[in-house]
Amino acid sequence: MTIRISPSVLNADLSDLRGEVARIADAADWVHVDVMDGHFVPNLTLGLPVVERLAAASALPLDCHLMVEDPDRWAPGYAEAGARSVTFHAEAVGAPVRLARELRRLGARAGLALNPATPVEPYADLLPEFDMVLLMTVEPGFGGQPFLDGVLPKLRRTRALVEASGADVWLQVDGGVRASTIERCVEAGADMIVAGSAVYGADDPAEAVRALRRAAEQ
Ligand code: DX5
Ligand code: ZN
Repeated sequence: MTIRISPSVLNADLSDLRGEVARIADAADWVHVDVMDGHFVPNLTLGLPVVERLAAASALPLDCHLMVEDPDRWAPGYAEAGARSVTFHAEAVGAPVRLARELRRLGARAGLALNPATPVEPYADLLPEFDMVLLMTVEPGFGGQPFLDGVLPKLRRTRALVEASGADVWLQVDGGVRASTIERCVEAGADMIVAGSAVYGADDPAEAVRALRRAAEQ
């Protein structure tokens, strides 16, 4: 299985986003951008004007993770701003299929994110409408939290549902993923890995990405 690594810049130096992306450009596949609105999660990061500039300046495609209320209203703007993948939360969206179709129409991959306590089963029949499912392996809002092993059974069930659907849906894990937890994620069916503090907390972020890839592909 091809493993894609998407480092999160949440814990990078946000005053130098272009430079921080450049540090991982040769090692990573995507760059994960966490958009938080201070309402859906108790943290506020960055929004559309920054994403628009970063999309133009980044050496890697942007994987935007929207932790915002009312993504039906806000998500299409991120596709228009140049994000190649736009993921919204099941807990916040009003009309997930309509929004996914709109994102795809705008040329972006459409992702559905589920918090740790949100079940995947209600979405089983709708999986072909999405290009990716993101399973949160921490409660969303902050980097550097410990990995929640309790999400692994849902990851296995989601992999089985994706296989049964026959659709090409990527399975992303986000939160607490590092060298010590990545193998569990891949073994349970993840094929796209977000890692924030494990990459930008390292002295050499590119080497940290390579080490994660080696651990994932073992
Ligand atoms: C958390 C964010 C994550 C975060 C991951 O709400 O969605 O993308 O940056 O950071 P780590 O890898 O440190 O848990
Ligand atoms: Zn994220």
